[in-house]
Amino acid sequence: MKISVIGTGYVGLVSGTCFAQMGNSVTCVDIDEGKIAKLRQGIIPIYEPGLETMVLENHEKGTLAFTTDIQEAIASTDVAFIAVGTPMGEDGSADLQYVLAVAKSIGEHMQHYMVVVDKSTVPVGTADKVKAAIQTELDKRGVDLEFDVVSNPEFLKEGAAIEDFMHPDRVVIGAESETAMQVMHDLYAPFMKKSDRFIGMDIKSAEMTKYAANAMLATKISFMNEMANICERVGADVNKVRHGIGSDGRIGYSFIYPGCGYGGSCFPKDVQALAKTAKDFGYTPRILDAVEAVNYDQKMVMADKVIKRFGEELSGLTFAVWGLAFKPETDDMREASSITIINALTTRGAKIKAYDPKARHEAESYYLKGNERVEYVDSKYDALTGADALILVTEWQEFRSPDFDEIDKRLNSPIFFDGRNQFDKERMARLGFEYFQIGV
Ligand code: UDX
Repeated sequence: MKISVIGTGYVGLVSGTCFAQMGNSVTCVDIDEGKIAKLRQGIIPIYEPGLETMVLENHEKGTLAFTTDIQEAIASTDVAFIAVGTPMGEDGSADLQYVLAVAKSIGEHMQHYMVVVDKSTVPVGTADKVKAAIQTELDKRGVDLEFDVVSNPEFLKEGAAIEDFMHPDRVVIGAESETAMQVMHDLYAPFMKKSDRFIGMDIKSAEMTKYAANAMLATKISFMNEMANICERVGADVNKVRHGIGSDGRIGYSFIYPGCGYGGSCFPKDVQALAKTAKDFGYTPRILDAVEAVNYDQKMVMADKVIKRFGEELSGLTFAVWGLAFKPETDDMREASSITIINALTTRGAKIKAYDPKARHEAESYYLKGNERVEYVDSKYDALTGADALILVTEWQEFRSPDFDEIDKRLNSPIFFDGRNQFDKERMARLGFEYFQIGV
């Protein structure tokens, strides 16, 4: 099939590349000329395992093209994916201006029947708006063309996006017409070992599925963080409680790791957007509001522990920070807990020596830009030299079994704040560390 993917952000680039890998002819479109020029040279704007090789291969083969010319792309397309950003507006709702601008362009340029797919995470009811925006342009042109708008929410996890796309645990499609449903089925069939992973439904339910999935996962995390905070106060150990409850198949082990709060491009934005939608429709979402509030506070828990240990005034102290990205295997720092923790400490006068295997550039150029108290280093051990304590924020694999002697030797004193509960507290005590965890 001939596919256009509009928006070469994270979701668009991964989806376009994987569709090309399956033998489709894909054109990725973006208005950012610099980005398209780089992609044409094989320079990938994000770090995602496996992506670069796949982009290069398909670009060379000619199955994956990059352009800023939406007119040309749309004119020869069977299926157009809208994969542009839906940033959070000031009131917490998703800002649809980019999605609707793409819909307008599609209406301006389409030449024959097309399936238009909402891949961006969009509030319930957006497909209707996309449809109306396309129809308005067709009416202006005075042409009578059939088209379908379909909702196909994305469930990719950063750091495992290629794997998730190539072997999906489900593909959710919301469509009104049988033709569109069949087109989507044909498109995704090669990715699925079992056809029961294709879940067709009406458009609104598909739009809602994405939010419900992310809200459920975010709820599990905030719930566990709340349990951790209670454990800490009553003298229980959340790591043991986690084991204890996870063995119940109905609860399960996944997504019940307490930590410094969830970040990323999805959970924070989607929980708030769903809460906003609920309120717009006259319902007060008490659980969603609590999930968000708990997460907001959780991002401060590690900084609070540092402040409790060292006092409110932190000038003259230096803290080593391991991990800046919102999670391992990505350079993404959107809504990362590291931002809250570092800013909380530096505003109290502390200096930070930060190390992250991939996110240094993001931190330096955007998320911690201008914070003169942060120094970036190129190895985890360099961060420790002369520091008064170590704070582990992101659980990259290279932090899993560090050389504790080296840590001890380099730190001014062996004080370790572990925001991801990576180590056994008895062992850490034996090694002579003053060791702080979440929920213990
Ligand atoms: C998430 C969803 O998993 C994915 O299906 C959706 O399409 C987009 O949002 P992603 O944001 O890439 O994916 O990251 P994920 O691995 O889900 O982690 C999100 C955040 O939750 C991270 O900050 C992570 O550290 C945190 N988390 C996760 C916990 O604190 N505890 C857990 O047990 C799991």
